[in-house]
Amino acid sequence: MSRSVYLDHSASTPTDLRVLEAMLPYFTQDFGNGSSAHRFGRAAERAIEDARESMARLLGVQPENIIFTSGGTESDNLAVRGAAWSRAGQGRHLITTPIEHPAVVNTVNQLADMMGFERTLLPVDAHGLVDPEDVVAALRPDTTLVSVVYANNEIGTIQPIPQIAALAREKGVLTHTDAVQASGQLPLDLNTLGVDMLSLSAHKFYGPKGVGALVLRDGVDLAAVQTGGAHENGRRAGTSNTPGIVGMAKALELAYAEFDARTAHLQAMRDLLIDGVLSTVPAAHLTGHPTQRLPSHASFILDGVDGNTLVMHMDVRGVAVSSGSACKTGNPEPSSVLLALGCSPEAALGSLRMTVGKDTTAEDIEYAVDTLAAVVAKLHILKA
Ligand SMILES: Cc1ncc(COP(=O)(O)O)c(C=O)c1O
Repeated sequence: MSRSVYLDHSASTPTDLRVLEAMLPYFTQDFGNGSSAHRFGRAAERAIEDARESMARLLGVQPENIIFTSGGTESDNLAVRGAAWSRAGQGRHLITTPIEHPAVVNTVNQLADMMGFERTLLPVDAHGLVDPEDVVAALRPDTTLVSVVYANNEIGTIQPIPQIAALAREKGVLTHTDAVQASGQLPLDLNTLGVDMLSLSAHKFYGPKGVGALVLRDGVDLAAVQTGGAHENGRRAGTSNTPGIVGMAKALELAYAEFDARTAHLQAMRDLLIDGVLSTVPAAHLTGHPTQRLPSHASFILDGVDGNTLVMHMDVRGVAVSSGSACKTGNPEPSSVLLALGCSPEAALGSLRMTVGKDTTAEDIEYAVDTLAAVVAKLHILKA
């Protein structure tokens, strides 16, 4: 393999060495359990609370409004299930979209299929955008939660979250946004977004895997989903992941400190990639919104190509990309997100996602575009 190019930053990012350095002491010298009363425990607790304060400052909330979790999936589960359960006495109607991550979709589905809740899926247009007016139309007196992804993982489309949140809040309905893909690339301040709950996952912004947060507005109370000890103010039981939490706070701090330079670089690399693919691969069509999309995100449908086969051929040539969502790798079903946008099942099987990172170079893009053109040409010949 002559070259290795990683263009799957929406699946995961490498841990920044500055983040790793901040984490290391909490594996060895300060390894204590943050709930223990002795000095080892106190050192861990101090680190966790410092991390909470630092993240709270950046996100515009009080420290006690941050719940540390094991990642984006758990944060989404806690937001949706915790809100649905805590408000079940007021109503059992939940509103979401057909283009949420499975961590939201499958939680809503389980509540509807097994626990007597009702669900409404909002329509999305051909670019994957939700119209805030459709949220108004879907709200009912028994609606308790509206959950809309901030930026979709497969097509990168950014939703009008402030408008959606304002309309739902007017009716006293809780709002959640899955900001897992948006973190490090879009503003996350809860006051600007206007949502009641926001999910984060550290490994999407150069932090470690297996740690995330659910961020709450003041006064939002949730039923605990993971029960046990009194950790996280009784809202999430389980020994705290001290190194992970310290790493996530450091990663968020760096993402904010370097925000302008990073997003400008991502956008330049993304545009180079989109222009290169569309001008050299005639079978390629951009999916998602042409402008209202994540700075890192390029996604396409390739006529007459199977996305999973394409990913394997690209990998053999040293380019890491994905088809649809990483969570669906190996699943030959067409992407449900693309189907919701109105794509045919055949077209949806040809989906390709290429996501750039802070260290992606123009040479990486050039190599990836040339490789894609060669692989698509080869797959077309094999199919003919
Ligand atoms: C939009 C979105 N939500 C949630 C998740 C799940 O996050 P985690 O991998 O931390 O469980 C992902 C992961 O890809 C995602 O893209």
